[in-house]
Amino acid sequence: MTNSSAVEIVEVAPRDGFQAIKPFIPTETKISACKALIEAGFKRLEVGAFVSPKAIPQLADTAEVHAALAEQAVARSVRLSTLVPNTTGGRRALDAGISDLVFVLSASEAHNQSNVRRSVAASLEDLRELADVGRDVQGFRLRVNIATVFDCPFEGRTPEAAVRHIVERVLEMGIPVEFGLCDTTGRAFPDHVGSLCGELVQHYASERSVGWAFHGHDTFGLGLANALSAYAGGIRIFDAAAAGLGGCPFAPGASGNTATEDLVFTFGNMNIPTDLDLDKLLDAATAMETLPGAQTGGHVRGLPRARICA
Ligand code: COA
Ligand code: ZN
Repeated sequence: MTNSSAVEIVEVAPRDGFQAIKPFIPTETKISACKALIEAGFKRLEVGAFVSPKAIPQLADTAEVHAALAEQAVARSVRLSTLVPNTTGGRRALDAGISDLVFVLSASEAHNQSNVRRSVAASLEDLRELADVGRDVQGFRLRVNIATVFDCPFEGRTPEAAVRHIVERVLEMGIPVEFGLCDTTGRAFPDHVGSLCGELVQHYASERSVGWAFHGHDTFGLGLANALSAYAGGIRIFDAAAAGLGGCPFAPGASGNTATEDLVFTFGNMNIPTDLDLDKLLDAATAMETLPGAQTGGHVRGLPRARICA
C-alpha cells in the first residue's frame, strides 16, 4: 500500500461472520469460502479464532482451516490472522503455527466481562504475557481489537478516556501493534467516529510502529457512513465482512459487519483504491448467502451486476 489515499480491507467474514452462524459450517465449506475471498484479491483475511469451543463452537476448526490455506497464502502474500481472547488462545494459535494474532478486549468493563469473562485489567495482563511470548516468535504480528470503543450494549457511550487508557497500556508493552477500533454494536455515529479516529491517528502519528484500523457493524444502517468518517479521520485499514455477515454473540442486539462489497463499491467510486476485484467479491459474498443460518446484510449485492461493476 503505497498510495496514501488507498485503503486496505481486512476480510473478517470467516471469523466475525461465521461466529454468528449457529449451524456448524463444514470445514471444507469454510476453506472454499476463504479461497474465493483470496481469489477476489484480499491480502488479509481473519480466518477464525482460538476461543473456547464452549463459547463459540462454530470456530473450533480454525487450526484446520488455517492449515489448509497456509501454502496458498504464502504463495500469494496473503496474511491469515486469527482472533484470540486470552493468553491461552494466543499460545494455542502460536502452537498451531499462526503468528498473526488479533487480541480482543473491550473498552467497557461490562462488555469485557460478557465477552471474555474477565476485567479489562486482567485482559491487559493477558496481553502483556502474550506480547512477551510473541517477541521471540518469528513473524509475530499483533492487532489489538478494542471492542465497544464507541458504544457498549450495557454501559452506553464509551468514555474516550477508557479507550486512551488501553492504548497507553498497550504502547507501554513496547511491541509493534495495529489497533482495531471496533464499533461492536454498530451504534456509533459518524461525528463520534470521525473525531475519535482523527484524534488518535494524529496524537500517535509520530509512533512509527503503530497502525490503526476501523471495524464497523451496520446494525443501525450507519456502517458505511461511519467507515467514511473513519477514513476522513485518517484511517486506512478497514475490517468488513462479505455479505454483511457478523455479530458478537456476547453483545445483545449487535448484528452484521458492514458488507465488504458495499465498502469496495463506495471506495471504488470515490477513486480510493482497494486493489480488490468487486465482481469476484460479489461471487464470494453471494455464495455465503446460501449458508444455512446465515443472516446477511448490505445493499449492493442484490442489485443488477451491471450497475455495480460498471
Ligand atoms: N481456547 C480454548 N479453550 C480455552 C481458552 C481458549 N482461548 N481459554 C480458556 N480455555 C479453556 C480452559 O483451558 C478451561 O478448560 P477446562 O474447563 O477444560 O479446564 C476452560 O476453557 C475455562 O477456562 P477459563 O480461563 O476459566 O475461561 P472462561 O470459561 O472464563 O472463558 C474465554 C474465557 C475467553 C475462553 C471464553 O469466554 C471465550 O472463548 N470467549 C469467546 C469470546 C469471543 O470470541 N467473542 C466474540 C468475538 S469478539
Ligand atoms: Zn465485530
